[in-house]
Amino acid sequence: MTPTRPYVLASVAMSLDGYIDDNSGQRLILSNALDLAKLDEIRAEQDAILVGANTIRKDNPSLSIKSPDLRKRRVDSGRNPDLVKVTLTASGQLAANSRFFEVGAAEKLVYCPHSMTETLQSKLGPAAHVIGLSSPSPHSLLEDLGARNIRKLLLEGGEKMHTAFLEANLVDELRVAIAPFFVGGGAGQKFVQAARFPFDKNHSMKLKSIEQLGDMAILTYHLA
Ligand SMILES: NC(=O)c1ccc[n+]([C@@H]2O[C@H](COP(=O)([O-])OP(=O)(O)OC[C@H]3O[C@@H](n4cnc5c(N)ncnc54)[C@H](OP(=O)(O)O)[C@@H]3O)[C@@H](O)[C@H]2O)c1
Repeated sequence: MTPTRPYVLASVAMSLDGYIDDNSGQRLILSNALDLAKLDEIRAEQDAILVGANTIRKDNPSLSIKSPDLRKRRVDSGRNPDLVKVTLTASGQLAANSRFFEVGAAEKLVYCPHSMTETLQSKLGPAAHVIGLSSPSPHSLLEDLGARNIRKLLLEGGEKMHTAFLEANLVDELRVAIAPFFVGGGAGQKFVQAARFPFDKNHSMKLKSIEQLGDMAILTYHLA
């Protein structure tokens, strides 16, 4: 029997002109404190969190649940306080001392092409569980996560990862947090790349909610 794939919630913070990062070389902070607190709550409801390998290289995020209360609530309900962390790489260029691997007690799953499984596993060591796929893609990754009993997955970017999942129609819900400023200058990463998306001018998504958090606007869409 084919395992059920996880429910995928894609979450992004972007500027009014659609950028998720600039070219300053430093991580662009788009969320305010209220949005970060809400994101922490959203993380606490998930089984796993996914980012692309380039986000690990550029931002070195810990992807942890920050609030001690939220962590305790997970423990009280018999869950790991940390989320399973997931990434996908074709190059294998990941450092074992990234916070992705060093922070948190839950599993860290690294999906890569079959051919590099052993090399990458010995490079990353016991903190990582490297899984080779014959053809790494959002679809094959979700299929494997489903078999590992991951039911709720939070996709937190970056640009390539959001594009691949949206283009493959594998996002169930989309949360867009819009910061009250422009990045401008024509440089930086955007929310998505040019692609053929299933939701276009003839096939709209359903707007589920609009929320104001300070000066940020939060739009949530249902895609399923
Ligand atoms: N504002 C936000 O909400 C937010 C959130 C997260 C990230 N970001 C920003 O997003 C930027 C990174 O975005 P990005 O588009 O450059 O990178 P990304 O989406 O984080 O990662 C892309 C990488 O994923 C791997 N990958 C993607 N598809 C694959 C496939 N089918 N098979 C195997 N591997 C695959 C490749 O890794 P390899 O290169 O290793 O092969 C690829 O380079 C950063 O600037 C970061 O600050 C913003």
